[in-house]
Amino acid sequence: MFPEYRPRRLRKNETIRGLIRETSLELSNLIYPLFVVPGEKIKEPVSAMPGVERFSVDMLVEEVKEVMDLGLRSVLLFGIPEKKDRKGTQAWVKTGIVQRAIEALKKKCPDIYVITDVCLCEYTSHGHCGLIDEKKKDVSNDPSLELLQKTALSHARAGADMVAPSDMMDGRVAAIREALDDSGFEDIPIMSYAVKYASSFYGPFREAAESTPQFGDRRTYQMDPANKREALREATLDMEEGADILMVKPAMPYLDVIHLLRQEFTLPIAAYQVSGEYAMIKAAGANGWIDTDRVMMESLLSIKRAGADIIITYFAKDVAQKI
Ligand code: PBG
Repeated sequence: MFPEYRPRRLRKNETIRGLIRETSLELSNLIYPLFVVPGEKIKEPVSAMPGVERFSVDMLVEEVKEVMDLGLRSVLLFGIPEKKDRKGTQAWVKTGIVQRAIEALKKKCPDIYVITDVCLCEYTSHGHCGLIDEKKKDVSNDPSLELLQKTALSHARAGADMVAPSDMMDGRVAAIREALDDSGFEDIPIMSYAVKYASSFYGPFREAAESTPQFGDRRTYQMDPANKREALREATLDMEEGADILMVKPAMPYLDVIHLLRQEFTLPIAAYQVSGEYAMIKAAGANGWIDTDRVMMESLLSIKRAGADIIITYFAKDVAQKI
């Protein structure tokens, strides 16, 4: 106790602080999310996410080359299709936007590790993550599984390195694992959005991905922000169904959940710093209320410290430019 123990001794300068630092941020742990749109020569800003753009396939290739030069190695792709329908057909067709993006990336930047978001909400006219049961006015679970299997399989066929189902249907990890294995893709890992909350922090993403539900909300399939024990049940299920990596999403408002999963599971844990988290930091920074760069680094470090091995973040490029 004081005066024998003085914590400030180990804070005297950057060298000693560096020596005892417990957590660090590595570019190798970051995944850079990217939005791909139809067309050519398109690089359009997303207004609620300053610094984030939507790219046509040709421009996406350029962006990936640029971030690879900065030291990033993995991307997470989201597609915005030309047309939507009730079943989200464009999510799984061979000529779909994500499928074309994967093929182009694998041809032009073979070393980039391509992860794909597997979901239907960007592709359905109603904006929900599965098929709609017209009578119940809700997403029907089991019939949606087949479409998710087709989507994941089409990504693997196009050359994706990993698939990341974000739909929150029950049983989708097992269904996707089976579909991949049956087609010879037993080496493609699944990063499951295991603990995905029905969060208001996804607002800016829905502008970027044009995936706002046209009626109702996602609370019948995404988790209630009030629940933590349920996170253990979701993660356990996904692990048993064959997930290789468990994700918690959003990140900063759910650091307790990341920490809990870190303690309870030996699988790698990913955390998604979502669009709203990014937008808040950017907006406060633009107003001069906070130092954007420092808050960015602190927020990411906090997510690591809570227990995440992998962070999916729109800041990945900014971090790469900084370190
Ligand atoms: C698709 C999906 C969403 C996000 C990732 N995948 C949106 C949602 O569930 O509404 C959100 C990502 C972000 O906010 O950055 N289901």
